[in-house]
Amino acid sequence: MRGLIGSLSRRGLRREAAAAGRPERALDPAPFGPAGPWVAHFRMNLAAPRAIRWDDGYRLTAAERRAIRRSMAKFQLGESSDGRFLLHHAELHAARSGDLAFAEAVRLFVREEQRHAAELARFMEGQGLPLMRRHWSDSIFRRVRKLGGLDLALSVLLTAELVALVYYQALARATGSLALRSICAEILRDERTHVVFQAGTLGRVRLSRGPAAVRFRIRVQRLFLLLAMLFVWVDHWRVFRAGRFGWRRYWHACWGAFASIEALLSPRRMARPAPSPAVLVTAQTEPLQPAVQHDRPRHRERAGDGEDR
Ligand SMILES: [Fe+2]
Ligand SMILES: [Fe+2]
Repeated sequence: MRGLIGSLSRRGLRREAAAAGRPERALDPAPFGPAGPWVAHFRMNLAAPRAIRWDDGYRLTAAERRAIRRSMAKFQLGESSDGRFLLHHAELHAARSGDLAFAEAVRLFVREEQRHAAELARFMEGQGLPLMRRHWSDSIFRRVRKLGGLDLALSVLLTAELVALVYYQALARATGSLALRSICAEILRDERTHVVFQAGTLGRVRLSRGPAAVRFRIRVQRLFLLLAMLFVWVDHWRVFRAGRFGWRRYWHACWGAFASIEALLSPRRMARPAPSPAVLVTAQTEPLQPAVQHDRPRHRERAGDGEDR
């Protein structure tokens, strides 16, 4: 319990960041400028080819299917939002702030998320894994996002993205499939820029608020993250176990990811100049695609072998 409370404090967070093996302020953030560079970044990224090994003939083993099928289906569903609510508030904010590129940046960001959903779906369909059309956890997540305006929507989204940064690392380690591992690598590359985009946007949206109000919101953000971490751990433990992510590792990785973007949310950074999409989060605590080592030799299975339906 002391660990839980400790991590909600600034000092606790520094400790977590140090334990995660990376400096707390890993960014060179410049969060408060027009969204034009983000539009250019997202356009370029959407046009760039993806290094996904679709030609990999690997069939998931029965153990891999058991570990990932429901979990992946939930994340795939989460990635597939049409972002209508977010877009609506982005347009309002763009009109109010005069940063007219912002709405376009959000639209392109949503397209990147939908690309993640499409890539996960393509992999799952190829492996005969069922997709999910709806799930109560996803419905709650979407509902909470809509309880407030742009600030709350981005806060909730940022929380999900931070946990996803750790989840996709675990998922990549949970399989011998080169296709899935390369999908995770591409998604992680995008998600690292997403958390910078969202955190920088939150900082900008909050410029009109006083330092105390911003500090309060950062505390709420930590609380959101803590709740999301607990929920995702309980709901997706099979993937973390298969990816050899113990609780301690998961805990440090999540708080380390948060620590790397916290500076963007801080009122102390409000005087800083404009953001740059080139700024990447070093939230990752290990190389992206480590050699997957399994306890027993893997062999390729025929399609459908060992399915645990
Ligand atoms: Fe995503
Ligand atoms: Fe994302």
